[in-house]
Amino acid sequence: MAKQLMRLDKLLGNMGFGTRSEIKKAVKQGKVTIDGTVAKDSGLQVDPARHKVEFEGTPVVYKSEIYLLLNKPQGVISATEDTRDQTVIDLLKEEDKLLQPFPVGRLDKDTEGLLLLTNDGQLAHELLSPRKHVNKTYEALVRGAVNEEDRTQFASGVELDDGYMTMPAELVIHNVKEAGGDEVHSFISLTIQEGKFHQVKRMFEAVGKKVLKLRRVAMGPLLLDESLALGEYRELTVDELAALRAHRGSKQIPAKGGQLNEL
Ligand code: URA
Repeated sequence: MAKQLMRLDKLLGNMGFGTRSEIKKAVKQGKVTIDGTVAKDSGLQVDPARHKVEFEGTPVVYKSEIYLLLNKPQGVISATEDTRDQTVIDLLKEEDKLLQPFPVGRLDKDTEGLLLLTNDGQLAHELLSPRKHVNKTYEALVRGAVNEEDRTQFASGVELDDGYMTMPAELVIHNVKEAGGDEVHSFISLTIQEGKFHQVKRMFEAVGKKVLKLRRVAMGPLLLDESLALGEYRELTVDELAALRAHRGSKQIPAKGGQLNEL
């Protein structure tokens, strides 16, 4: 294994043991050991994979990557910083910000649900790559009676307001109900395999309907953890991470009419 040298104060800082000056002080006080020997200098180079670093006798377990599953609430933006709005990073505990996770893709400010945060640029890139067709499933409350015709249209692709033709998407209509006055509301799930700006809202606009509420419940093999309240998050489990890594793009949603093409 190649050596991964890093400064002792950086290693301890990344793992939440204090600021650089606090760590310097702790090292001076003899609180930090490397392979059982008291460290004399916070600027020492260590290899986290090989050296056993302890802080006041507690082993420092080093990790360089972080993977968080957030149930994003409305009113928070999918960015790392903003001068006006609260960001998804603002929802994290200080120790979870240290490794500088960022959101993998975006949910609109008023969209809730599953958002992956990581500092693993390679994985993020693969999940977002248009060529990988990673399925994203949303649940939505829609004003209007969503019908079979919409389902067929979405299955073959709809033209958005800018002329873009969407890839085939899978629409499941759960229920259509009177909602008072003249209004009818539909509760649906929609699985799309790309991530154009406001895509779900614009797909429904294309068929004359309006999304009132939107929530993402799945991305590739990752499912929203319903035990997380809005604004709560947790680390991915080992199995979830393995499934994401193994995921080489979802099975594509076949275009309706595909059988005709074969004739
Ligand atoms: N589609 C939308 O319209 N909004 C989102 O936040 C995600 C998908």
